[in-house]
Amino acid sequence: MSRNIRAIAAKSCFDVVDQGMSLSDVLPKAQALLDNALDKALLQEICFGVMRYLPQLEAVCNQLMSKPLIKQLRPLQFLLYVGIYQLKFMRIPDHAAISETVDAARELKGQSLTKLINGVLRNVQRQPAVFDFDNAPLAVQFNHPGWFITELQLAYPQQWQQILEANQQKAPLWLRVNINKINPTDYAAALTRTGIEYSRPVADLPAAIKLTQAQDVTTLPGYAEGWFSVQDGAAQYAASLLQVSDGQRILDACCAPGGKTCNILELAPQAEVTALDKEPKRLLRVHENLARLGLTAKVIAADASAPDSWWQGQLFDRILLDVPCSASGVIRRHPDIRWLRKKADIAALAELQQRILQQCWVLLAPGGILLYATCSVLPQENSAQITQFLQQNNDATLDLLPQQSPEQPHGWQLLPGEQDMDGFFYARLLKAAN
Ligand SMILES: C[S@@+](CC[C@H](N)C(=O)[O-])C[C@H]1O[C@@H](n2cnc3c(N)ncnc32)[C@H](O)[C@@H]1O
Repeated sequence: MSRNIRAIAAKSCFDVVDQGMSLSDVLPKAQALLDNALDKALLQEICFGVMRYLPQLEAVCNQLMSKPLIKQLRPLQFLLYVGIYQLKFMRIPDHAAISETVDAARELKGQSLTKLINGVLRNVQRQPAVFDFDNAPLAVQFNHPGWFITELQLAYPQQWQQILEANQQKAPLWLRVNINKINPTDYAAALTRTGIEYSRPVADLPAAIKLTQAQDVTTLPGYAEGWFSVQDGAAQYAASLLQVSDGQRILDACCAPGGKTCNILELAPQAEVTALDKEPKRLLRVHENLARLGLTAKVIAADASAPDSWWQGQLFDRILLDVPCSASGVIRRHPDIRWLRKKADIAALAELQQRILQQCWVLLAPGGILLYATCSVLPQENSAQITQFLQQNNDATLDLLPQQSPEQPHGWQLLPGEQDMDGFFYARLLKAAN
């Protein structure tokens, strides 16, 4: 396989958009083809950029070519997007961007297309008006699928544009200090000594640190020692909202890769935590994270929506349901999600979420707390789930969270970019005491 960064980027984007593969799967394998960290970072930046601006890159090609490249030439169509993205959005000198992209065409067996590719890129250079999208359809103006924009307009008539714009931003790197190992103030001092800039912007998340610039986390102080984890600020609310303490029996029913399981154990090291996930492969990450942070949980590969197959009859005091969802709140971190997720997926996910919620509710002790969480901004996965659940379960009441606003009576919806965090939803349900 080629070691040409642009060729690898074009093939990776083709794999995601045309073959339906996730960039989280494709990118690490593609990066493994490259030797140095700068090249790997450049590859990521190009792939993320093409995902973020795909409709506009397509629209530019449509203006400058009589028809798109199809069938076995599709990777070369993506190479055009790679070239145009560099010219428009990166600080690479135009001549280098163009010549590298044309070289990449040869690597992708597009020898006969080098003239065409060179011509399209030179026209982009000469005609900035090809990027004028003021009168284009919303999907092109905002670089998201039309169905998703419509959903957001319905749910957030005042904020839909703000959400779409936040999805185009690069996500910051948030850390959660492992308070079992080091005090957050001491950890912050260790960062200062290493010359790393950061802020501690959220008063109700004392262990949260936001780095000013992206870093290779393995080089930060205390990585091997388990002094911190990487976790967005929004996700860091889960463990404290669940009100965990030592001695409780706690179920984390959709736990992998274990970010919130570990946070629960940091706050309550003597809790008896069961960490469940349906995907055995993803549980390997849970084991790794527990080991690095020096924490212990009972880890089980099983289906949360079918407790008969794994539950041993003892009720839980606390249950976290961080259910599988559209991930529509984390598009800024995973810009390919908008192309992989389809409208029909939402109803299927909502059905699974309701099933997991109903089945796990039975496992909660009277007087116990269940926290329902998603990284979605769609009401079908969030407030509508809670409304339906409350209608069907008389022993459940919704406990209003301090962060919840009166306009959101069925849970706390964080929108992407608020406090520089991911989009997230939390609803805390209390079970009546006997
Ligand atoms: C949003 S992720 C969980 C993230 C995790 N809580 C964390 O903080 O690191 C959802 C997880 O649910 C798992 N999952 C999907 N369907 C499931 C089911 N029926 N039972 C248990 N886990 C399931 C997926 O494998 C995925 O790991």
